[in-house]
Amino acid sequence: VISSGAGAPTGSTRLAAVIGAPVRHSLSPVVHNAAFAASGLDWTYLAFEVQPAALSDALDGVRALGIAGLSVTMPHKEDVARLVDDLSDDARLLGAVNCVVNDKGRLVGHNTDGAGFVGALGAELGVDPRGKRCLVVGAGGAARAVVLALARAGAATVVVANRTRARAEEAAGLAGAAGRVAEPADVVAEVALADVVVNATSVGMGLPGAADVPFPPEALEPGQVVADIVYQPLVTPLVAAARARGVTAANGVSMLVHQAAVAFELWTGAPAPVDAMTAAVERTLATVGDGPPA
Ligand SMILES: NC(=O)c1ccc[n+]([C@@H]2O[C@H](COP(=O)([O-])OP(=O)(O)OC[C@H]3O[C@@H](n4cnc5c(N)ncnc54)[C@H](OP(=O)(O)O)[C@@H]3O)[C@@H](O)[C@H]2O)c1
Repeated sequence: VISSGAGAPTGSTRLAAVIGAPVRHSLSPVVHNAAFAASGLDWTYLAFEVQPAALSDALDGVRALGIAGLSVTMPHKEDVARLVDDLSDDARLLGAVNCVVNDKGRLVGHNTDGAGFVGALGAELGVDPRGKRCLVVGAGGAARAVVLALARAGAATVVVANRTRARAEEAAGLAGAAGRVAEPADVVAEVALADVVVNATSVGMGLPGAADVPFPPEALEPGQVVADIVYQPLVTPLVAAARARGVTAANGVSMLVHQAAVAFELWTGAPAPVDAMTAAVERTLATVGDGPPA
């Protein structure tokens, strides 16, 4: 193998990439290039800004160029689910793809957010959802993946609370018999009843000094666990409020890393170097500070 050393691309370097619009703020290049380097794999990872009108051409380009894998971010997750050649069970149920595997020109869409969330819950907070009463606040794309994964992992109940009720009903439906919608007036009582409370809304994200929390934290008690999927700022307003009440809480960095780890393993077949990926994300987020993604 001809190598130019120090991780520079060679004639045999394999490529993975993220597509989105905008995409310059994406942490995926940081996390995946750290993973390739730590694993000693001759792979590299780039970000491509792809506008919706060019999405189909971009996927044809992936096939034609033999790009090995894609991460998919806003606004393409649903459209990619319609354009790929096949879908995993999760991606089909969610109608959304965040990871594409190029299997010799056949593009297969996956959704790794749910597995990433459950992986993070275990790794970061030591929580196995089996038999647990879970409350998910939010019903967007990430929340839907979390609801499905919690139900799959054996949660006793998955209650969904969301500003827009119709979306809550749809998300709760993904949990089958375990799913239920919280009435807006009952959210505080639902928080008190839950073993695991998840913020899967974007409330608390980005704005410097914002104090926004997605639900009143006063009902939280020690013994409960709070998982915020927001990761910027690193200490989100909800994580701060939960910890102030003696409640174990984590931000969304671990989910970000674990969903990327599942993608890495689908593309490369190698075990993901989770610690190196986490260090790279935390280093980058500490550098960009608490401001909105730039
Ligand atoms: N850690 C990770 O790996 C990871 C992965 C994916 C996403 N995320 C984060 O998760 C968040 C949600 O992402 P998404 O893709 O699911 O977005 P999305 O599909 O746009 O959903 C947004 C959700 O937030 C709710 N929401 C937004 N503003 C609100 C407000 N002011 N008050 C109450 N609810 C509000 C929405 O409620 P309505 O339905 O009423 O509009 C909806 O439930 C983002 O911050 C994203 O960065 C993290």
